[in-house]
Amino acid sequence: MDRSGIEAVKARINISDVVRRYVDLKPVSGRWMGACPFHQETKPSMSVNDEEGFFYCFGCQASGDVIDFYGRINGLEFREALEQLAAEAGIELEHVPHDPHAAERKARKQLLIDMHNEANSWFQRNLSVAAGDHCRKYLADRGMTREMIGKFGLGYSPEDWHGLDNFLKTRGRTPEQGVEAGLLSRNAKGDIYDRFRGRLIFPIQNLSGRVIAFGGRVITDGEPKYLNSSDTPIYKKGEHLYGLNLARSTMTRTKRAILTEGYMDVISLHQFGYTDSCGVLGTALTPDQVKRLAGFVSRVDLIFDGDGAGRKAAMKSARMILLQGVACRVVLMPEGEDVDSLLQSQGAEGLDACMNEAPDGLVFCMNTLNADYAPRDIMAWAKSFLSDLSDASLRAYYLPRLVNGLGLSEADFRREAGAMAPPRNTQQQPQQAQTPSRPQKVPVGKDDKDDRYFLRFPIQYPDYVPALAERGFERILRTDWAKAIWEKLANTQPGQITSLLNDQEKSFYYRCREELRANVLSGRELLREWNYLCNKISSEQRIKDEKQLTEAIRQAQQSGDTKRALELLALKESRRRDDEQY
Ligand code: CTP
Ligand code: MN
Repeated sequence: MDRSGIEAVKARINISDVVRRYVDLKPVSGRWMGACPFHQETKPSMSVNDEEGFFYCFGCQASGDVIDFYGRINGLEFREALEQLAAEAGIELEHVPHDPHAAERKARKQLLIDMHNEANSWFQRNLSVAAGDHCRKYLADRGMTREMIGKFGLGYSPEDWHGLDNFLKTRGRTPEQGVEAGLLSRNAKGDIYDRFRGRLIFPIQNLSGRVIAFGGRVITDGEPKYLNSSDTPIYKKGEHLYGLNLARSTMTRTKRAILTEGYMDVISLHQFGYTDSCGVLGTALTPDQVKRLAGFVSRVDLIFDGDGAGRKAAMKSARMILLQGVACRVVLMPEGEDVDSLLQSQGAEGLDACMNEAPDGLVFCMNTLNADYAPRDIMAWAKSFLSDLSDASLRAYYLPRLVNGLGLSEADFRREAGAMAPPRNTQQQPQQAQTPSRPQKVPVGKDDKDDRYFLRFPIQYPDYVPALAERGFERILRTDWAKAIWEKLANTQPGQITSLLNDQEKSFYYRCREELRANVLSGRELLREWNYLCNKISSEQRIKDEKQLTEAIRQAQQSGDTKRALELLALKESRRRDDEQY
């Protein structure tokens, strides 16, 4: 990558000048604020910092420099964004040969996006004209308001084998392109025809609101009841959540997601005011989907049927969510109802009643285990749950709750579990886990909170980085992600760090810089903070020394060297006394 070109673009172009082309910016106490274009919001929560050349959104944590902003808002890859801005600013970039396939791939994706957009407006138009009469009636009979039809962009595909096919041709698309986009189908004879016919159409949007796939429901009798787009280069089943783009802004506020199964369920939930709802789209919940949510929310309310199959699915989903360190509740529907029918017949009151009875996810799992599982299966479940936890602090959190809820003794369980299957991903994690490209886990737990706090200081006051490095700052960090950021801070010239950070690190970094603007420490506060960190580092060192000493004493005792053991013991005592005075 052309470092000097990047620096030149950032130096030459004011980030606020670029942002202002897309967003109305207002000065607020010495900085620019505007509505974030990367998530839906009414209150402006994006801050733009000309001095340091970055933007940061308090709502969705989007952040980056002027090139990131320009690329993201225009759907460009970094290199393209850089080239366009460089051209604007009259900067010659060093010639770096392009990956020709990258351009090709991008063009292909863009074509698919464009075709989905065209198909979407065609479906929507069909719903509003005479051909869509009985579909509109169907929606009205199901209690769906016009507002929701508009919000979710519902459409209709007429009973026609070549309706969309012909429409796409008027847009210059070939039938083959239609097949590639998953909008048209080809039979064994090679004939190409509309995939969706006589169906109510649910557009599936990605987080930036682009339509990337469709679901279609029959409105008369027919099979299958729902037909969905197959996977394409722009859509992978199990990666997206239905309605997430619409629910996201509420989720960032409520910190909760309601997760349900069906299209109609999601829409009814929004209609009845639960605007933090989204749907899993006809598959079992996937870890990818959970990770998406874990970025916004701290709790997921899972809605499932109350029957055996529903409870089984609920157990699987709850487990997956708990493994990510996100809380959940399991909301079971009364017999014969789904959330859509419940809301339509009993309103929000009916659903709230179910929610009030919803057990916490871990409690639900334990109750189900106790009620339905054989002892050996309970043990197997508990062991595999704990060993699938990637985070040691989470294991510490769940272990006592689990043994309690299952009526086990913690010591026995530890011994049993230890003997059978050592927990994965514990201490043996090599340090190379810190390479920047490694996708990072969503931070959770106390260690993360502490590390965030500690790291804030060197990010906000980089002058102190060398002194902290000398004192061994890394010792007080517990998490891999924090250690990785620190390593970069400690080994880079100030001002160059951001080009080394991955997206998640950048977001954290810019957030700290942004918070600094709101709250610069006075001289005395700075000193206090500095002393706090130094004390923390030395106490961490003391703990480590003490552990070593204890281990040495144990070894001396074991080898029968009583004299040495006693000496060491005396040393330990005297250190302890020193510490107490300290
Ligand atoms: N689904 C699917 N393909 C099917 C059946 C179902 O993709 N052949 C998905 C859809 O997302 C559907 C969800 O699974 O919304 C739940 O299916 P189901 O309970 O059968 O339907 P409902 O959502 O209740 O649909 P409706 O209320 O319209 O009958
Ligand atoms: Mn239903």
